[in-house]
Amino acid sequence: MPDARGGEHDTFVTHLECSATGEVHQADIPHGLSRAGKPLLVRYDLEALGRAIDRETIARRPPGLWRYREFLPVRRAENRVSLGEIETPVIPVPRFAKRIGADELLIKDEGRLPTGSFKARGLCLAVSMAKELGVARMAMPTAGNAGAALAAYCSRAGIESFVFCPDDAPEVTISEIAFQGARLYRVNGLINDCGRIVGEGKRAMGWFDASTLKEPYRIEGKKTMGIELAEQLGWEVPDVIFYPTGGGTGLIGMWKAFAELAAIGWLGEKRPRMVAVQASGCAPIVRAYDADVELAEPWENAATVAGGIRVPSAIGDFLILRAVRESGGFAIAVDDEAILAAQAEMAREEGLLLCPEGAATLAAYKVALADGRVTRDERAVLFNCATGLKYPLPPVTRRLDCRAPIDYAAL
Ligand SMILES: Cc1ncc(COP(=O)(O)O)c(C=O)c1O
Repeated sequence: MPDARGGEHDTFVTHLECSATGEVHQADIPHGLSRAGKPLLVRYDLEALGRAIDRETIARRPPGLWRYREFLPVRRAENRVSLGEIETPVIPVPRFAKRIGADELLIKDEGRLPTGSFKARGLCLAVSMAKELGVARMAMPTAGNAGAALAAYCSRAGIESFVFCPDDAPEVTISEIAFQGARLYRVNGLINDCGRIVGEGKRAMGWFDASTLKEPYRIEGKKTMGIELAEQLGWEVPDVIFYPTGGGTGLIGMWKAFAELAAIGWLGEKRPRMVAVQASGCAPIVRAYDADVELAEPWENAATVAGGIRVPSAIGDFLILRAVRESGGFAIAVDDEAILAAQAEMAREEGLLLCPEGAATLAAYKVALADGRVTRDERAVLFNCATGLKYPLPPVTRRLDCRAPIDYAAL
């Protein structure tokens, strides 16, 4: 909301910090990676932030991520690029939980956001900051959902966008990206190959690189998943969060959110255990977690139906692993068969259409519940990060001839 200072409001950003070395970088100018080549994290004057805003004031604001604007980096209200972000629901599935032997299971359904995925949160912030910093052209490699959000928010902001996605990304999303104004190219490779194209072309094309964690603000948008979840649970955190992990922005962002909320006294000591879920056909984080190492080796021949988590090499690997370990969580891989079975079960039994990546969290939760890595009394939240409607669904073959007599008893 504009205030007395001509549309500026308090953001409390003090500086950006290299996530690996802690080196300070100046705020309010365009940045990619830190000088050490690692992701930059936005830092705030949390003491001032905590004095300036309280939970009651936030509660009176309209739903959506801008209600948490003091926790975000955009300084001028006119630079908030919005497509009507909502508060995504936390949906209990008690019948399903009971059947699999759990007391409580909650699904945070991010598929309700503009462009149908949680990528809207990250790109809403990245594009708003790009607007604020005068960026004219953005480019991105994508598994699909992030590209759709980039295209939509850039068109909304009047910024040009160039998007590169693997040839086998879901067709609807490919069309959506192009239709929403991006210059889209299908690439005969994986997301890392698309990333190389962006990296190599950015100088010639004057692109601002919006790749996962290669700019500092997508993570700030994804952070709002954690703030919103805590608010929805009465400024409490759940016991455990299952997150479908590709580049890891959401997991890292939520972990950052909980730390910032605790620093201003809005959360107590308790943190959720963070569980990074990957597909067994592309599980570099799980392999690194199991090997007890800090960095993940790139995964060869990555393949899974859950395209959003088909990320062979993540630049924020050490941040994902750090959050998982600090939280007392774990990393777990599930195969495509289990992912598709979990997706079908949830659709059939509860009417919730998860995306394959979201279904991976359900498959992982079931395994972890069965082998004791989570207990039945732990309050678990699974993240469904996109609507299942954008992905291929099983074909339907049952047909009726409306001109012939119908044998109703046989239906
Ligand atoms: C539906 C879905 N789930 C999960 C992910 C992984 O997200 P993150 O980069 O935050 O790990 C993606 C990324 O493309 C996605 O599209």
